[in-house]
Amino acid sequence: MYTRIKNYLHIRFLMNLYSIRNLITGNGAVWLKLNTSDLEHMVNETVSRGSLDLKGKNVLDLGCGTGTMLDFLQREKGAVPYGVDLSRLNLYQCRKKMKNGNFFREDIIQYLENTNDKFDLVIMYGVIGCFTVDKQKAIIDRIIKSLNKGGCLWIGANIYTDSSYKFQTYPVPKGFYEEICVGQSVKLDEFFELEVFGNGKYDPDQTSVMISYQP
Ligand SMILES: C[S@@+](CC[C@H](N)C(=O)[O-])C[C@H]1O[C@@H](n2cnc3c(N)ncnc32)[C@H](O)[C@@H]1O
Repeated sequence: MYTRIKNYLHIRFLMNLYSIRNLITGNGAVWLKLNTSDLEHMVNETVSRGSLDLKGKNVLDLGCGTGTMLDFLQREKGAVPYGVDLSRLNLYQCRKKMKNGNFFREDIIQYLENTNDKFDLVIMYGVIGCFTVDKQKAIIDRIIKSLNKGGCLWIGANIYTDSSYKFQTYPVPKGFYEEICVGQSVKLDEFFELEVFGNGKYDPDQTSVMISYQP
């Protein structure tokens, strides 16, 4: 019960405060300690690591915030942006940055249930921990089905249950991603964000997970 209330306040109140701050300051990250260049750096490193060619390809950011990563990928890599977020203010800022983007003010689960689009990259940065572990599994399974061949799901700011960082609402148990990948035509890559992005502002042990669809 306490966890559900905390999650609700986190998403509906705290993140909206960051969005109001961002509207005023121009910071593109819906985070206390991150900024636009942190997000651009991380998404750029991830695209390089996955050797992803996104020119003319659909990229979906679930919980896209103010669209900073999508905007970067459209400008620098020629990607076609799709973004989903609950916050009206975030989507207003996305549409301002990307006039021809595809944006949906919707719950992530609802969006995934209804979309028939296919993607070459799906981003969930700092979002998956808002869902219970069962829902996280269902979301990941559904995203894998929406990937084009060679497409990739990137889950960033992943925190495990044994982490010293205690603010993740729904951390996952160790082995969670390996278990999800069993029996699927996917390749799993996981790395410490501190090592690859040089970013440990929250938890030095937080990881990024890349799941590529390779039928
Ligand atoms: C920590 S912020 C990260 C935003 C963005 N990925 C970034 O790195 O700046 C989490 C975002 O997920 C959105 N969000 C949380 N739960 C959601 C849900 N169930 N459906 C859609 N968006 C959601 C919030 O509105 C918020 O913009």
